[in-house]
Amino acid sequence: MNISDRSFVSRGEIAYSENKNEIKTISGGYLVCEDGICRGAYAELPEQYAMLPIYNYGKQLIVPGMTDLHTHAPQYSFRGIGMDAELLEWLNTYTFPEESKYADIEYARKAYNYFAEDLRRSFTTRAVVFGTIHNEATIELMNMLENTGVVTYVGKVNMDRNGGENLQEQSAEASIKATEDWLMAIDGRYENTMPILTPRFVPSCSDELLNLIGKLADSRNLRIQSHLSENKSEIAWVRELVPNSTSYANAYELFGNMGTAERPTIMAHCVYSDEKEMEILKKHGAYIAHCADSNMNLTSGIAPVRKFIDAGINVGLGTDVAAGSSMNMLKTILITLQASKMYYRLVDTDVKQLTFEEVFFIATEGGGRYFGKVGAFKEGYEFDAVIIDDGKMFSTRDMSIRERIERMCYNDADVVIMDKFVKGRQIYGKL
Ligand code: GUN
Ligand code: FE
Repeated sequence: MNISDRSFVSRGEIAYSENKNEIKTISGGYLVCEDGICRGAYAELPEQYAMLPIYNYGKQLIVPGMTDLHTHAPQYSFRGIGMDAELLEWLNTYTFPEESKYADIEYARKAYNYFAEDLRRSFTTRAVVFGTIHNEATIELMNMLENTGVVTYVGKVNMDRNGGENLQEQSAEASIKATEDWLMAIDGRYENTMPILTPRFVPSCSDELLNLIGKLADSRNLRIQSHLSENKSEIAWVRELVPNSTSYANAYELFGNMGTAERPTIMAHCVYSDEKEMEILKKHGAYIAHCADSNMNLTSGIAPVRKFIDAGINVGLGTDVAAGSSMNMLKTILITLQASKMYYRLVDTDVKQLTFEEVFFIATEGGGRYFGKVGAFKEGYEFDAVIIDDGKMFSTRDMSIRERIERMCYNDADVVIMDKFVKGRQIYGKL
């Protein structure tokens, strides 16, 4: 459909998380959007909204847009390739050489256009994205993402060590100066594209650089994203690099990179985060971006997501392209479920597998909270929605909405995104 106003009612097979244990469904329900804000989902349309235009999606599914809390735009070009290495070898063999190409703005423009266009027609309505160390390319990426209508945080990456000669800034000062230049260049330029400070990970950033990034975050009121406890060799290296830290998370904490509840830091992975690290993440109100696809591909391990949830730590899902091989959030949901089942079966039978309800919640409202009231069709939430046609998944079975949602996550072969809305604005339409 083609919907140009931001106040309307969409009718269809509605599903969203009421809470982490409950998916609410309404068949033939009415979903109200007023000026980009959700006014609730109803079985009968309340009288006060009767004057709004109604768009009838019939038997199609209407679900909240999903939040990809961690992905790397410049790595999209080699998604699905080079998956036989573990993290540190993978970075040096595939990732750093590819990212160094973004010094060339023509190359960057072409590659980022593929990423932005595919993001626009994905299940994702909010994303937190790594660029590269290059200012010009990162600004081009932000321009393109702004045009998609997807709401994003985007980071120019900071790296002043261990990147090789082609992917490393000259010094901590040079890296901060470039960051300040980047912030100045984009100041006031976007509606939906926000900057986020992005120290790649401890091995890429000197103590001095991490310290300066912490100070910059405080003085400019900026958020931070990075990687934490992804791989055993990486963790051992960090212990050598910051010998006075009590844990990898503590290294970031020492340098003021763990953020606050108001400016939460996102830490991707946390595969090996123990009680001590969990305490630090909780104390700072940080978000864990759980990247199950990536953790499988790089043979990193399985993060104990159940423990994080039980401890009250914020958790969202990340596709982590290109260690994760696709930006499809349905696939990410599926691998999250499968990984948690194997954690329970093979690692620790005291840690129960995640339920479908829990993972659907994490993919929508769990990660969406990083952006505010986002990820559910509740009163006052920003209206992010995806309309899905699963009518070509033929079956003799008469299925509930809950079953259709579960099925599309386990098997998305014939699932088609028809329309997509962010803050009530249609940003994609198939027809
Ligand atoms: N750690 C530091 N950089 C990266 C990266 O690009 N991808 C992943 N998966 N882990 C990292
Ligand atoms: Fe990553």
